[in-house]
Amino acid sequence: MTANGINGTPDLQEIHDFLIDLATRAGEIITGAKPLVNSVDSKKNTSDLVTEYDRAVESMISTELRSRYPHYEFMGEETYSPSKPLTNAPTFIVDPIDGTVNFVHSFPNSCISLGFAINRRPTVGVVYNPFTKLLYSAIAGRGAYRNRTEKLPLKGDAVEPLKGLGSALIAVEWGSDRHGQNWDTKIRTFEQLGKRREEGGAMVHSMRSMGSAALNLCAVAAGVIDLYWEGGCWAWDVCAGWVILTEAGGMIVDGNPGNWEGQLDGRQYLAVRAAPGGQGQKEIIQELWGHMQGTFDYTTK
Ligand code: IPD
Ligand code: CA
Repeated sequence: MTANGINGTPDLQEIHDFLIDLATRAGEIITGAKPLVNSVDSKKNTSDLVTEYDRAVESMISTELRSRYPHYEFMGEETYSPSKPLTNAPTFIVDPIDGTVNFVHSFPNSCISLGFAINRRPTVGVVYNPFTKLLYSAIAGRGAYRNRTEKLPLKGDAVEPLKGLGSALIAVEWGSDRHGQNWDTKIRTFEQLGKRREEGGAMVHSMRSMGSAALNLCAVAAGVIDLYWEGGCWAWDVCAGWVILTEAGGMIVDGNPGNWEGQLDGRQYLAVRAAPGGQGQKEIIQELWGHMQGTFDYTTK
């Protein structure tokens, strides 16, 4: 077996440890950032932001990964090209700063999200918030952890059954697509989820919009959020968090109704936390799908 992918099976533990090392180094770049004067650029619109630090972190990480694992593919948010979509090949899938809007506003909920997928299945995940110093990581088949030693979900065997949307705390995100079918689906569904039962709503306990898809998935993995539903993310937003969540006993399915097999690059996702024996997971997924007002369509956007 070799570590660098020239021959044989990838050494997942070695990859995991190296990704943690890179995330820690990236964290120092991010927390050492100077005030962001004139260094915030818009991408597709004024809420889709990139800073010199997103670019610097991606550059450092891609240089290190390409040098150590030259035979694996690399996909990163800031250098992604639609002409190079995700394939079955072993691929590092990297978001240098997930939660860039938070970073720009000094709201301390951003992270480095480093994933490794094989056959399009998330296999290793490392998510690190350098402001809170919380590190989430997992290797497929070997469990998920916070700060390397605290097993997820945090309540362990005491994790409670899911009792339906009426007692759920849900993460949702506004995202940066603010028009058309996908925007309508989001905001009409938010209203439906919040509305009281007498008017046909789900009356969830509440909704949180914390600004980082990767950290939302880690919150569901930890069990402090029951569900996370979003359309508009990309593979780099979810790859690392995906394996952390599923290794913590959670599930991730399509954000549109009916598809129980979520796709890594499917752009719409619904994640649910662990429950004893999976109790209530499928029911709450169906309940949320049933409350959706419209569906997502990212095929042409
Ligand atoms: C975004 C964040 C946000 C989510 C968007 C993502 P970025 O990533 O994860 O919470 O709503 O869909 O694109 O731009 O901060 O890397
Ligand atoms: Ca990003």
